[in-house]
Amino acid sequence: MTSPPPPAETAAAENLVIAMDGPSGAGKSSVSRAVAIRLRLRYLDTGAMYRAVTWWMLEHRIDIHDPAAVAAVSDRPRLAVGTDPAEPTIQVDGHDVAAPIRSRAVSAAVSPVAAVPAVRTILVALQREIIGTGGIVVEGRDIGTVVAPHAPVKVFLTANPTIRAQRRTDELRHDPDATVALTEAELARRDVIDSSREASPLARAAD
Ligand code: DC
Repeated sequence: MTSPPPPAETAAAENLVIAMDGPSGAGKSSVSRAVAIRLRLRYLDTGAMYRAVTWWMLEHRIDIHDPAAVAAVSDRPRLAVGTDPAEPTIQVDGHDVAAPIRSRAVSAAVSPVAAVPAVRTILVALQREIIGTGGIVVEGRDIGTVVAPHAPVKVFLTANPTIRAQRRTDELRHDPDATVALTEAELARRDVIDSSREASPLARAAD
């Protein structure tokens, strides 16, 4: 028996790149994964890559507030990223870091690491390699502006700060210290760093 041809919408999406940018907790991951599954595309969470590098820096006791120290070792972590939207995976040096990269320790440390240009250069190159000829939904902060500026579909997704904090706090259920107010304050602090850094700040693409 031959399988039926894919619906027209998935055939048309084969080489499509969908750029999904916006701040933390806006719902990018849920929307990106749902769209990727629906259109039978791959899915890439670039925030998870910055988190994985940050996890590695903390493991190796690198001072994340010293940009030169971070830059000096930025080519050492070996990332392996799986792009199945139903089951995205991420490993660093062979360790499955899907859970630890969501910890508050990594969340608190990731913005300064993501602001280091050497880290961005390495991760953007890897992201472009993974994007390849397309067929993928890519979520992050600089996808429509820097990583894939020619993406034919660009979405900038945001949401009310309290709703964003609520969503992030729900993800940290196991952490008794994570309150909505605290998470909202931490998100606000990260928004400032992510939007005001010199290297590829969070910004809506002009198109
Ligand atoms: O989306 P997230 O919260 O998992 O992102 C984690 C951090 O990585 C966040 O502080 C912003 C940064 N980031 C970035 O600078 N560029 C991207 N393309 C994706 C995330």
